[in-house]
Amino acid sequence: MNFTRTVLVTGGCGFIGANFVKLLLKERPDWRVINLDKLTYAGNLQNLAEVKESENYHFVKGDICDAAMIEALFTAEKIDTVCHFAAESHVDRSITGPADFIQTNIVGTFTLLEAARKTWLGGNWDGKEPSFLHVSTDEVYGSLGETGFFTETTPFDPRSPYSSSKASSDHLVSAYFHTYGLPVFITNCSNNYGPYQFPEKLIPLIFHNALNGKALPVYGDGKNIRDWLYVKDHCEAIVRVLEKGVHGQSYNIGGNNEKQNIEVVTVICDLLDAKLGLLPSGEQRKSLITFVKDRLGHDRRYAIDASKIKDQLGWQPKVTFEEGISKTIDWYLANQQWVDSVMDGSYQEYYQQMYANR
Ligand code: NAD
Ligand code: DAU
Repeated sequence: MNFTRTVLVTGGCGFIGANFVKLLLKERPDWRVINLDKLTYAGNLQNLAEVKESENYHFVKGDICDAAMIEALFTAEKIDTVCHFAAESHVDRSITGPADFIQTNIVGTFTLLEAARKTWLGGNWDGKEPSFLHVSTDEVYGSLGETGFFTETTPFDPRSPYSSSKASSDHLVSAYFHTYGLPVFITNCSNNYGPYQFPEKLIPLIFHNALNGKALPVYGDGKNIRDWLYVKDHCEAIVRVLEKGVHGQSYNIGGNNEKQNIEVVTVICDLLDAKLGLLPSGEQRKSLITFVKDRLGHDRRYAIDASKIKDQLGWQPKVTFEEGISKTIDWYLANQQWVDSVMDGSYQEYYQQMYANR
């Protein structure tokens, strides 16, 4: 088959990456997808088990910081499009151990940019028009007060090691556009939720604990606000930017779904009570809510103004929070084996069984 694009997806075994790979294989069958993933604790090959034999899909286990391997991959596969998801993504881990965030998020992004520059701008490129899309976060803009929204021109003010590493990589991507003319896009997105999210993040963690009658940890007063975006909406926005975006531009992607954390936790409890009945003790699941010590430097509020991508590229989120959270809870209920295998660590054996002897 003659593929119209060859896309390198980094971090395709993580939460958003896996949803993105599946979306591409379904909706862009004329694109070839190479998934490069190191399989850190957050990478789970089972997320892509049902597509692993697809003709236009190829998995490579590797580190985005490995310059020689990346450059060889660009040449061998004639990569013309990069969708760069791979990152250390959990804010709490960045507070207790920032080193991996600096390495993967900054050095890894730099390594990919260098490979793209050498391959595409080195004078020998005879492939299709290239694009390098960096998937970033709204956290680069810092924290909002009670009013206002992040726009693409809001000054960067990152406040955690995670968000600082993402801001740093955004600056590098932007510098490669201005300095070398590398054809880049940057997307800054709000909190995603949906299938395959690692259960250290708020929504799957609360699901797992509420299901099992465990305490539901809510940081601080529970009134911090996040702008929730259903992961499929995010993935569709990325495809839209790849197909219609203007190189050198950044695009904010948000869900128009601002919620306090305590509201999110309560909704999950109420949905589980409605779908499964009350706890064996006869109590509602929200009785498990436990306010715990606040996250260090906890950003108070994020809210995205996504009017640029709406006005210029015609994308807007389709899924309301009420619809998305109900679908998400249904998915986790139907896939409890997935959650259990992540919780007990057995998901990491899957790679050994499926790929190690090939
Ligand atoms: P995730 O933690 O679920 O997955 C990260 C993936 O990257 C994993 O598969 C992991 O194995 C892989 N990876 C990590 N280090 C690597 C390395 N050195 N080389 C190759 N692969 C490596 O992350 P996610 O939540 O899916 O987020 C994906 C991207 O989207 C990240 O860049 C994140 O900053 C960004 N983002 C996430 C959200 C969100 O709400 N989850 C919101 C905005 C932006
Ligand atoms: O805004 C985009 C960002 O969203 C992404 O860039 C990050 O990769 C992603 O992890 C997410 O970051 P958050 O820190 O907002 O997500 P998290 O799920 O860790 O926390 C959501 C909110 O819930 C936050 O205010 C902290 C709070 N929280 C989190 C956990 C894990 C709790 O109250 N209790 C918890 O146990």
